[in-house]
Amino acid sequence: MPAFPAGFRWGVSTSAYQIEGATAADGRGPSIWDTFAQEAGRIVDGSTADEACDHRHRYAEDTALLAGLGVSAYRFSVAWPRIQPTGAGPANAAGLDFYDRLVDGLLAAGVDPVATLFHWDLPQALEDAGGWLNRDTAARFAEYADLTAARLGDRVKLWITLNEPFIHMSLGHGIGTHAPGRMLLFDAFPVAHHQLLGHGLAVAALRASSTSPVAIANNYSPVRQVGDTDADRAATEAYDALHNRLFTDPLLGLGYPDAPGVDPAVVRDGDLAVIAAPIDVLGVNYYNPTGIRAPEEGSPLPFEIVPLDGYARTAFDWPVAPDGLRELLLHLHRRYGDALPEIQVTESGCAYDDAPDAQGRVDDPERIAYLDGHVRAVREAMAEGVPVTGYFVWSLLDNWEWAEGFTKRFGLVHVDYATQRRTPKSSYAWFRDLTRR
Ligand code: FCB
Repeated sequence: MPAFPAGFRWGVSTSAYQIEGATAADGRGPSIWDTFAQEAGRIVDGSTADEACDHRHRYAEDTALLAGLGVSAYRFSVAWPRIQPTGAGPANAAGLDFYDRLVDGLLAAGVDPVATLFHWDLPQALEDAGGWLNRDTAARFAEYADLTAARLGDRVKLWITLNEPFIHMSLGHGIGTHAPGRMLLFDAFPVAHHQLLGHGLAVAALRASSTSPVAIANNYSPVRQVGDTDADRAATEAYDALHNRLFTDPLLGLGYPDAPGVDPAVVRDGDLAVIAAPIDVLGVNYYNPTGIRAPEEGSPLPFEIVPLDGYARTAFDWPVAPDGLRELLLHLHRRYGDALPEIQVTESGCAYDDAPDAQGRVDDPERIAYLDGHVRAVREAMAEGVPVTGYFVWSLLDNWEWAEGFTKRFGLVHVDYATQRRTPKSSYAWFRDLTRR
């Protein structure tokens, strides 16, 4: 492995809803994911995240795992419904107390706290008022950011406003496979705009009570054109604009791209300036490229997503394509030039069907190979001039993978959900040795 610059940030990521459990503790209110998981047929294994990894109670043990891993940063998310059980009004002190203890524990272990404010667990009360389709949710989000920063802003080392607003829009509101389960296709555009507006307003709120840098974490996927007709090219461009540019162009001051669904009537005077408030770091979440070709006649979509041939696959059936990460980083650099802030890869990882052997060890050579390839891809992009300053593995722990329930294991640490026993996998030792070097 080639050397990385001193001070490069090595971390791991999690999110509140996927690990915390204890959904009724601290006076937490229900979120859209509690509602969604209770609906029949939504989660493949019929599970809920009511217990998940029980991290709300086991955070000290999990902090010790982070310390043992030797990472310099831990990206977690704050559960909005713990801070504002109904999404509005004064802060719930018990909710903030939990994150206060977590943050202090991390600092004592020498790990920088990196806090994401919205990783998809919208308070259900806000959904009942229209959720992200309602412009007012952007203002509510800024208020929640303000309450959280007032308490943690002196110790959190990097703020991330939103996690993957594209995925929340498309899966949650476009095709309905994630909470809140709406099927609006491109009429989901207000969800994009209001998340971005909420981001911009939250940046201002965070700046008011914290001097720490501010980021957003976007999901990116290099698009591979399958087929060579003009229609295939048009489909590829449409998908690329939707997945890779809809949330980045306006953030970096370019306004909305010509992407399916963009509706100027939703955008009010002044909104684009709020959205383009300078950020310090662009968070890049990368898992795989996407194959695209022209749609069948009569399709409601201007593209068709097709499986890509010739790749090894993870247990999620996602292609393993480390070079896609290098390509994507170079592409961001080329496209946005000087407008591009420094980048941290805020999620990178893979699911495999890891299980303990007869001795209780969990050996996951595929994950080691996957991460090795992706870390090298980052280093190559850096050598070609892309300003990357950090890399976070998704995830510290096996956890509740949204609509996939407990069926997809992404952790460096295996979790036995019946006993909550944590077992570091061989990838944990590999990553520890890498970050030590
Ligand atoms: C990302 C999400 C994260 C996790 C990984 C596998 O899209 O941000 O919560 O589900 O995928």
